[in-house]
Amino acid sequence: MKAPRLLNVRAAVCHGVGEPLRLETVQLAPPAADEVLIEIKASGLCHSDYHQMTGVSTPYPFPVILGHEGAGVVAECGAAVETVRPGDHVVPLSIGECGHCRNCRSGKTNLCLEFFAGMQAPPRRFSIDGRPVAAYANNGTFASFIVMKERNVARIRRDVAFDLACTIGCAVATGVGAVLYTARVERNASVAVFGLGGIGLNVVQGARHAGATMIIGIDVNPAREVLARRFGATHFINPQQQSGNVVEHLRALTGGGVDYSFECVGSTQLMFQALECTRAGWGVCTALGVPPDGERLPILPFDLQLGRTLKGSFLGNVKTRSQLPGLLDLYADGELNLADLVTHRLPLERINEGFDLLREGRSVRTVVTF
Ligand code: CU
Ligand code: ZN
Repeated sequence: MKAPRLLNVRAAVCHGVGEPLRLETVQLAPPAADEVLIEIKASGLCHSDYHQMTGVSTPYPFPVILGHEGAGVVAECGAAVETVRPGDHVVPLSIGECGHCRNCRSGKTNLCLEFFAGMQAPPRRFSIDGRPVAAYANNGTFASFIVMKERNVARIRRDVAFDLACTIGCAVATGVGAVLYTARVERNASVAVFGLGGIGLNVVQGARHAGATMIIGIDVNPAREVLARRFGATHFINPQQQSGNVVEHLRALTGGGVDYSFECVGSTQLMFQALECTRAGWGVCTALGVPPDGERLPILPFDLQLGRTLKGSFLGNVKTRSQLPGLLDLYADGELNLADLVTHRLPLERINEGFDLLREGRSVRTVVTF
C-alpha cells in the first residue's frame, strides 16, 4: 500500500502548558472517502482553547493545534461525500449530525452517537515529521487546512463574512442555543446571565430574541455593562459593587426568583448561585461554563425538591447540520448581533496577542484570519 500524500499546512501549535503558540508547518493526512478538506478562512479564540494552554482543563494531549470556532471553504471532498461540494462555505463542528443514530432521531439532543465514538478514539490527522499532533475538539481550526468527517461539516450561507460566520461554531451556538434549545425560554420570562463574555452575551441576545422581558446581566467587569445592554440586557449587576448577596438581590428584583438562569463562566460557586436565584416551582438553571478539571458541583437537594431544574448542554443543544446554519439566518434578519461580538481581528501570526486580550478581558471575541 502506498503511503498517502501528506499536505503541508500552516498551524499555530501548542507544545505544552504555559507555552505560547508556535507557528509552524505541520502535515495533514488527506481526506478519506467520507471526509472533507476545508481551507480555514477565520477562527475565533475561545476560553476553552485558553484553558488547554494554561492547563486548567486539558482534554487533549500535547502537542495540540487549538481552535474549534472556524469557518472556511470546502477545498476537496472524498469520493463518498454527497452533501457538500468544493467551494461551499462551511463551519466544522466537534459534534456531528449523522441523522440516523438513536440520538439524532430522538429529537431531544444534538449529541449524535458518533460524537462519543470520536471522543473515545480521536482521529490523528496532523503530524510533525511523523510525530502525531492532536486537534482540539477534533477540529484544530488554527491550521490553514483541516480535514473533517462529512457529518461534522455544516454548510452555511455565502453572504456572511467568514470572520463573523465562524462565531456560530462555538459562542453563538452555545449561548443562543442554550436559550432556544436547552432552557427553551419563553416570551415575557425573566432571565439572569452570570458572566458576560462571548457565551454570556449570546445568552443575552438569545433571550431578547425569545422575547424575555427582564434580562439581568451579572459580571465583575464594569465595562461589560454597556455591551450587555447593547445585546439586550435590561439590568446589570456588578457583584463587587453590590452590597449584600447577589441571590437575594435577584430574588428581590424579580419578586421571588428568575424564571431562567445561565452560568457562563465555569465556576461551580456561580453555578450554585445561579441555581439558587431561580424561582421555586419552575426555575430552570442552565450550566454552560467549563469548570477546572475535577471540580464537583455542590448542590442542595432541597433546591431541586422545590421544583427547580438544573440542566446543561454542549453547543447549546443545537443540532449542528440541520439547525446551526439557521443562526446565520437570524443574523441576516437582524435578530442577532455578530458585529459587536467580534471586537478584534488579527492575522494568524499574531494569535498570541489575541490570547493576551482574552486573558485581560479586553476582547469579547478575537478572530484570527488566514
Ligand atoms: Cu469554544
Ligand atoms: Zn447521529
